[in-house]
Amino acid sequence: MTRVAPSPAPSSPATPGPLPKAELHLHIEGTLEPELAFALAQRNGVTLPYATEDELRRAYSFTDLQSFLNLYYALMAVLRTEDDFADLAHAYLARARQQGVRHAEIFFDPQAHTARGVSLGTVVDGLSRALDTAEERYGISTRLIMCFLRDESAESALTTFEAARPYLDRITAVGLDSAEVGHPPTKFREVFALAREAGLKCVAHAGEEGPPAYVWEALDDLHVDRIDHGVRCMEDERLVARLAAEQVPLTVCPLSNVRLRVIDDLSAHPLPAMLDAGLLVTVNSDDPAYFGGYADDNFTAVRDALGLDEDTLRTLARNSFRAAFLDEATRAKYLAEIDAHQAAAQHR
Ligand code: HPA
Ligand code: ZN
Repeated sequence: MTRVAPSPAPSSPATPGPLPKAELHLHIEGTLEPELAFALAQRNGVTLPYATEDELRRAYSFTDLQSFLNLYYALMAVLRTEDDFADLAHAYLARARQQGVRHAEIFFDPQAHTARGVSLGTVVDGLSRALDTAEERYGISTRLIMCFLRDESAESALTTFEAARPYLDRITAVGLDSAEVGHPPTKFREVFALAREAGLKCVAHAGEEGPPAYVWEALDDLHVDRIDHGVRCMEDERLVARLAAEQVPLTVCPLSNVRLRVIDDLSAHPLPAMLDAGLLVTVNSDDPAYFGGYADDNFTAVRDALGLDEDTLRTLARNSFRAAFLDEATRAKYLAEIDAHQAAAQHR
């Protein structure tokens, strides 16, 4: 398989390029572009229910989260071997580099693969093979976040966590994703407690389609370090005050919100109101192959639709490093890159 060759480093002093940023909400399975899906289908002898890449692209018209998840899980049928997971991660990293991503915390959905007979070892070994080269090859530091599917049982999450124990040295955090409504965070209290005991960080999707009550539960019952999405927190003043006071990071995904009809139109996105409320907001791409843009595309889209100025965009980029699971020296190094980017942009 031919891989996308790494491009030249995007930020030299003469042409600052995209803002340096961390991507904290990115499902690696959601980076599967149609071209790679068809290439892997052919390599693995899998027949996709679409004749061409264009026909597949025409299916990317979603009415809600579930309508997206149906396609997202169906296309995973092409991911079978360690090579497939390594190629998927390489393709993402090459794109992320062009978008100014300096650090990526990458979700994966083990149950979506083990349910198809693909072992956890195949997934983790394949992804790690690419991530182990990421610093040197793409200039991107990485972390892995293992997500539990909330529309599966609490027992299945526990079984998955126990099966993952041999791999925990490569996993930084656990997360919670898939169909939100009807599957409250509390259902996963036990497995999150085990993860914390094992020294892992915790994050959870909450307040995307689900109510503010799910954000409260994620904080109080799962003791999460960050909330993924969280946009519906804006319906609950007390919750906003709590999130602001504790500076709980929110990994917001603007293009995703529009594509999944969480928000009617990008111009109506609550991102400016969230910033005004003092929330620690970050901007991320979620499932970029499906939602029309990678990390910097999301920055550009909110700039254009919401009229955000350069200072606000830099705040969002700084927030991404402040919210990342990084040691303090590395965090400071990345924050200094934003200062350097600002200086280069102002002295052009
Ligand atoms: N929400 C919930 N589950 C997901 C998503 C999302 O945006 N993307 C992939 N799995
Ligand atoms: Zn997500």
